[in-house]
Amino acid sequence: MRKKIVVGNWKMNLLSAEAATRAAELAKLVGFEDSVEVGICPAFLSLAGVSLVLRESVIGVGSQDVFWKSSGAFTGFVSAEMVRDAGCRYAVIGHSERRGRFGKLEVEESTLPFFGETDETVNLKLKATLAAGLVPIVCVGESLAEREAGQTDAVIAAQIAGALDGVEDLSTLVIAYEPVWAIGTGKVCDSTEANRVCGFIRSQVPEAYRDHVRVQYGGSVNPGNAAELFSQPEIDGGLVGGASLKPEDFIQVINAAK
Ligand code: PGA
Repeated sequence: MRKKIVVGNWKMNLLSAEAATRAAELAKLVGFEDSVEVGICPAFLSLAGVSLVLRESVIGVGSQDVFWKSSGAFTGFVSAEMVRDAGCRYAVIGHSERRGRFGKLEVEESTLPFFGETDETVNLKLKATLAAGLVPIVCVGESLAEREAGQTDAVIAAQIAGALDGVEDLSTLVIAYEPVWAIGTGKVCDSTEANRVCGFIRSQVPEAYRDHVRVQYGGSVNPGNAAELFSQPEIDGGLVGGASLKPEDFIQVINAAK
């Protein structure tokens, strides 16, 4: 049996004091119940503070990205080792908001070139994440145009092949299926289709790890739709953006995975 895993992606929200307060509130709501694995991913600058607040909690902390070099002259970057050093358990890699796959309505044209994640950088980041002893959460998903062109499975297969290239030990790997058109839009993917794609994702993982890898769904998960999504056999939990920011909402999403 795969343990369900629900992770909150706080994106570029909350100053450090507020992040610590909300983490503490969530810890109270979660208690020591660990039938579902729970994580939150605050902004880099809040990682250490939130880790401290959660040091006696079952909730793990994760970063929203890592750089693949462990140290050196890389001004402004944060390595997987540094993330681990800040007390983290997880690292999100290849989120669509970093892949340059943003719908143009959601980001100003002038910022698009700065979101340049590729399958190659995702692969390097996955290797660095594993080497640092972190649990990787690799995001994949198609854009609306790709879905409408019938390319969903081909796009995802290529993203997975690129991400996993040359990676040998996939025993801790988590993959998040996040259709780009469902992220932050309120347009959740139909649960049957989300289940189908999560099953397809599993089929793309090398056989030795296929039954073991956890595949989350992400994209407009909320307290009203989480139970339906998480009851699907191929969906092992969720990567949750907006609905993870308020502890009283996020706990409902977590409980829906039980
Ligand atoms: P959302 O974001 O839940 O706000 O749609 C999900 C994500 O980007 O991981």
